[in-house]
Amino acid sequence: MDWGLQNRLSRIIKPDTGKTVMLAVDHGYFMGPTHKLEQPRKTIEPLLPHADALMLTRGVLRNSVDPRANIPVVLRVSGGASIVGSSLANETITTSVEDALRLNVSAMALSIFVGSEYEHQSLANLGRLVNEGEKHGIPVLAVTAVGKELEKRDARYLALSCRIAAELGAHFVKTYFCEDFGKVVAGCPVPLVVAGGPKLETEMDAFQLASDAIREGAVGVDMGRNIWQSEHPVPMIRAIREIVHHGLNVREAKEVYEDAKKSRIPLMASPRRPN
Ligand code: 5RP
Repeated sequence: MDWGLQNRLSRIIKPDTGKTVMLAVDHGYFMGPTHKLEQPRKTIEPLLPHADALMLTRGVLRNSVDPRANIPVVLRVSGGASIVGSSLANETITTSVEDALRLNVSAMALSIFVGSEYEHQSLANLGRLVNEGEKHGIPVLAVTAVGKELEKRDARYLALSCRIAAELGAHFVKTYFCEDFGKVVAGCPVPLVVAGGPKLETEMDAFQLASDAIREGAVGVDMGRNIWQSEHPVPMIRAIREIVHHGLNVREAKEVYEDAKKSRIPLMASPRRPN
């Protein structure tokens, strides 16, 4: 792997633990002003010191993140569909590699929709993006998206999607956690991070998801709604960090969460390391 590409990837997946806590705030690219992400800057700013990387579009990056922030950016470069349109899978590459370079990103992210009517188009998009990324030393994160068909998220389907993404050259893959997640990991030769998915009923459910995913071989999370739709987003991301980077179990993570809730100053027990 090219030096620049490796260097960029190591800004996201931290070499000291081999893990990452990515904060996903790209939801507006097809969902518009998502609940609790209506004003991205307000949502993002308090969470930044606790995230290893930020996943978002160029529009939100330019308008809602201080350019002096020292945070690796995973730039979503696919889009072109919306929640009210006929198919979420009908995506194209919306952002040039030149723009990604100008924005000094650490990786580019694109969704694939295996099994959908736009399967071929999204996989061809991935191939093209990897070609461009390799030219410029920018890693590509493939997101195994399911559109509105959340029930598709089982091990057989996700293993198929993740493997295809890796075969086409994705440098890391974002997928969903599922029963038998170990089988998804085993069949995928590149690192996997898990999405949180729609907001779960309790914080404990989100801790359990993160903990199980790490135990079964994920290198981290790329979590959105279960962090910033929580009533206590900073305590939430702090607890998730402890699970991902330090292997805390669900009960211990809950203690971190409760302690952080009581704290008036942002606790920095395991801060993001400067790059
Ligand atoms: C949408 C995405 C989101 O970033 C992803 O789903 C992560 O966010 P959440 O944890 O809210 O599911 O890639 O395609």
